[in-house]
Amino acid sequence: MKNIAVLASGRGTNLKAIIENIENGTLKANLACVISDQEDAKALQRAREHNVEALYIPPGPKKTWLVPEVEAQYIKALNDRDVYLVCLAGFMRIIKKQFLDAFPYRILNIHPALLPSFPGLNVQKKALEYGVKFSGATVHFVNEVVDGGEILTQAAVPILDDDTPEKLAERILKEEWRIYTVAINLVLSGKYKIEGRRVIKTE
Ligand code: GAR
Repeated sequence: MKNIAVLASGRGTNLKAIIENIENGTLKANLACVISDQEDAKALQRAREHNVEALYIPPGPKKTWLVPEVEAQYIKALNDRDVYLVCLAGFMRIIKKQFLDAFPYRILNIHPALLPSFPGLNVQKKALEYGVKFSGATVHFVNEVVDGGEILTQAAVPILDDDTPEKLAERILKEEWRIYTVAINLVLSGKYKIEGRRVIKTE
């Protein structure tokens, strides 16, 4: 079973789903550690409750990204634990070249919109305000473009007339919990190929 790690900055409900799916056998992976840039992240607490190693690695001086020295600490922690696949789950930092080069096509992110629509932050509010009738969730490889990597899987969620950003976020989250496991299993199985931007199953 290959080792994965989850990087999370906040409450960690995607982490919770990953842990539950490993425990019930749906997700065929070993969760080697959870790393956060926030010392008080609920995600770290959840990891400890499930006897998963929880690491806080301070984010350094920048607000939205990790300086090279800090990235090097993340990379070392992951390599020391023989991590094959890094899963960003509400990790609110941009990943830069050094980190990407250390894990080529082995960093995934989950995003609460149907990319390439609505990259970035507060995307449930943006989708509502734009007036789209569907939004959803996307799991994609991480590359140098924020929310711009090749798409592994998506799930669509209808937008209702009485929606609020919070209500929509909650319905999208339920899909996130489901599709992250599908995408991780696919990458770990190795049964896919990438043609242009398309990720295609090979079996
Ligand atoms: C999720 O909705 C995830 O898609 C989003 O943050 C939330 C984290 O929730 N990620 C991003 O917006 C990344 N740009 P969680 O901590 O409960 O898993």
